[in-house]
Amino acid sequence: MGDKKIKIGIIGAGNIAQNSHIPAYLKQDDAEIIAICDINLDRAREVAAKHNIKHAVGSIEELVAIDEIDAVSICTWNNAHAKAAIAAANAGKHVLCEKPMAMTVAEAEEMKEAAEKNNIVFMMGFTNRFRSDSKVIKEIAESGKLGEIYYARTGWFRRRGTPLGWFTDLSKAGGGPVIDIGVHVIDLTWYFMGKPRPVSVTATTYDKIGDYKTKGVSRWEALDTDNPVFDTEDSAGGFIKFENGAAMSFDVSWAINGQDTGIFSNIFGSKAGASLNPFTIYGEEEGYLMDSSPKVESQNSFENEIRHFLDCVKTGEEPISSAEDGVLIQKILNGIYDSARLGKEVELD
Ligand SMILES: NC(=O)c1ccc[n+]([C@@H]2O[C@H](COP(=O)([O-])OP(=O)(O)OC[C@H]3O[C@@H](n4cnc5c(N)ncnc54)[C@H](O)[C@@H]3O)[C@@H](O)[C@H]2O)c1
Repeated sequence: MGDKKIKIGIIGAGNIAQNSHIPAYLKQDDAEIIAICDINLDRAREVAAKHNIKHAVGSIEELVAIDEIDAVSICTWNNAHAKAAIAAANAGKHVLCEKPMAMTVAEAEEMKEAAEKNNIVFMMGFTNRFRSDSKVIKEIAESGKLGEIYYARTGWFRRRGTPLGWFTDLSKAGGGPVIDIGVHVIDLTWYFMGKPRPVSVTATTYDKIGDYKTKGVSRWEALDTDNPVFDTEDSAGGFIKFENGAAMSFDVSWAINGQDTGIFSNIFGSKAGASLNPFTIYGEEEGYLMDSSPKVESQNSFENEIRHFLDCVKTGEEPISSAEDGVLIQKILNGIYDSARLGKEVELD
């Protein structure tokens, strides 16, 4: 691409676009946001005016028809990720897609095929891989210091943290906390484990207290909260087995009568273990149990993610969070829902 700036189109002008993607692109010298689209055209226009973005349009079709655009960030509700990614790939634009990749495995596979057919860079926005503490754990796991990583435990419990808006509407989100926050912790932990091939999932989901009226707590509100629908799960737990014999247990909830945990990820190896929260390596030294906590400054994970995307667009290299990773994670997420619905363990192909 030489010294030319990479021309960016933003698809979906909501929270994550305004608060994370756009500010991160604005910090890069080699990128320029030239277009934004939203089905809420007024919203697209407002954001465009604020950041001096040349084009504001009301549909994905109009955005991908803009010749100048080299790459897009997909920041829509989950139900438009596949449509946007396929349209962008077919128009020859590189794609950074917010999590989750899609709502179904079939959609995710179509997105991967479209990216391959059109020879574009496709990257999943698995933000947590780009945290500075995550990078340290990944480096230590890859160095072999933990030995064989055979088990993991991950999750994210919120005591009262159900978002208000499209997140709880199955037709727009594709699922509840499994697909919203489970995707983060399951992907991150799987990445730490060295991305073993998933072979089966057993899980349960619950819908007990997610749509709460608890006093004294606020609900996080999406931009559009009119006509709210709540037809997703509010909690889930389960067990994922991998081809190499390793396994991962997970717990996620938007609302549960227990302590808030934040994101946690523990990987257990035959020589040592690592935990993201608390950030600790559990090892042995001189014959004694020895814990250590590496010191690293925290970084803006979205800036790191977008920097990596732009570098891959420039070099043509495959991103560390590839379309293939997105498809495998989608298989796990949909496997969780299948297992919960069928009441038994499901095999993943
Ligand atoms: N990585 C993270 O930590 C993180 C955090 C929050 C949200 N997200 C993801 O980002 C995405 C957006 O979430 P949000 O919180 O910004 O939601 P939001 O509701 O604030 O914004 C989504 C925007 O997409 C627009 N939109 C919907 N369908 C569209 C379509 N077909 N074409 C164009 N625009 C369309 C909506 O009008 C809205 O303005 C979701 O996929 C969500 O899972 C990721």
